[in-house]
Amino acid sequence: MKIAMVGSGYVGLVSGACFADFGHDVVCIDKDQGKIDRLHAGVMPIYEPGLDALVDSNVKAGRLSFTTSLAEGIQGASAIFIAVGTPSRRGDGHADLSYVHAVAREVGETLANDAVVVTKSTVPVGTGDEVERIIRDCAPSHRFAVVSNPEFLREGAAIGDFKRPDRIVIGAEDEFGRDVMREVYRPLFLNESPILFTSRRSSELIKYAANAFLATKITFINEMADLCEKTGANVQDVARGIGMDGRIGAKFLHAGPGYGGSCFPKDTLALLKTAEDYDSPVRIVEAVVKANDSRKRAMGRKVLEALGGMETARGKKAALLGLTFKPNTDDMRDSPAIAIAQTLVDAGVIVTAYDPEGMEQASPLMPDVTMCDSPYAAIEGADAVAIVTEWDAFRALDLDRVKALAHRPVLVDLRNIYRPDDMRAAGFAYSSIGRG
Ligand code: UDX
Repeated sequence: MKIAMVGSGYVGLVSGACFADFGHDVVCIDKDQGKIDRLHAGVMPIYEPGLDALVDSNVKAGRLSFTTSLAEGIQGASAIFIAVGTPSRRGDGHADLSYVHAVAREVGETLANDAVVVTKSTVPVGTGDEVERIIRDCAPSHRFAVVSNPEFLREGAAIGDFKRPDRIVIGAEDEFGRDVMREVYRPLFLNESPILFTSRRSSELIKYAANAFLATKITFINEMADLCEKTGANVQDVARGIGMDGRIGAKFLHAGPGYGGSCFPKDTLALLKTAEDYDSPVRIVEAVVKANDSRKRAMGRKVLEALGGMETARGKKAALLGLTFKPNTDDMRDSPAIAIAQTLVDAGVIVTAYDPEGMEQASPLMPDVTMCDSPYAAIEGADAVAIVTEWDAFRALDLDRVKALAHRPVLVDLRNIYRPDDMRAAGFAYSSIGRG
């Protein structure tokens, strides 16, 4: 089957490469000539483990190609995926649908065969109806259906998530749409991945509800962590204790500095806007967004405390280990590190940092922070070291070396990757999250 993937960003490229790997004939389309040129040269526009090899093998097998021409790329495709960005609209937090609508228009104007148009971009309820209207207005003479098929890929684990999904959600309004989608996902059908067929509107809402629920789970455990610190309980035990209840589940209960990334912050805001538009408040999600925002600066204050408090922090030095919103990505979007660094800089602290992949993206976001070549270079002379992102490279630091290099052996572990007893035995003044 021929598949066209419009938008070769994170979702489009990973999905396109995986579909090609299933044996489909995939064309990835993007307006950005530079990106397409780099892809032709085998250079990935994003950092995602395993993606370069997957792209390379499928290009060599002749199943994956790239073009800037939508009109050319969609010809003969039975499924045309829209996988362009839906960023938060400046000013109001609504999802910006201008790219989705523009693609729909171009598809409508150039479609030359029967096809299913599949929205993979995260879009508010009702967007599929609008996409259908736009295509119909352009009056193609061909049969088409508009289907919703949200993605649930995690950065850093995207290929595994695509090939072994917890579920595939397909929102279709007619049999033509369902039939083509069955064919698209046939290899996963055969693997017995659960596939949920539902209405287009339900499918669109499922994506937002899933992300808002996960953001709520994280924020819940983060607030429990604060309570643990005040009451002398241990949040990891609390998470384990509640997670063993099958109704709650153990995943997404790691307390930390707050969620970031390309999805949770943007999608929770967009859900609030939809709720407002439909006059149907989602108060829990409102509280989650507020709590997560204030948590990020609170984490900066936690590092300030380790430096001896706001009054004495000026002129002291803090080292941040990890800047990306999570490990195995170079993505800095809404990373807690940004607010943490800003809080420290505002208090007159000299900040150094190291991140295995994120420093290029981080530099313009934190111009006052000195980026270093290694964790140890960042730690040199530090009055406090803070682990902000749980990269594997920080899980087994040479603690003697850290102590010898740092000005004071103070470690703030915002991801709980070390054990308090071990760290105290190693001679560190150690603080972490929710382990009173
Ligand atoms: C998320 C969803 O998981 C994915 O299904 C969706 O398609 C896109 O958004 P992603 O943003 O890549 O994926 O990262 P994820 O692993 O979900 O982590 C998001 C944020 O939550 C990170 O900042 C992470 O550090 C934080 N987090 C996650 C926690 O603080 N605690 C947890 O237990 C889990």
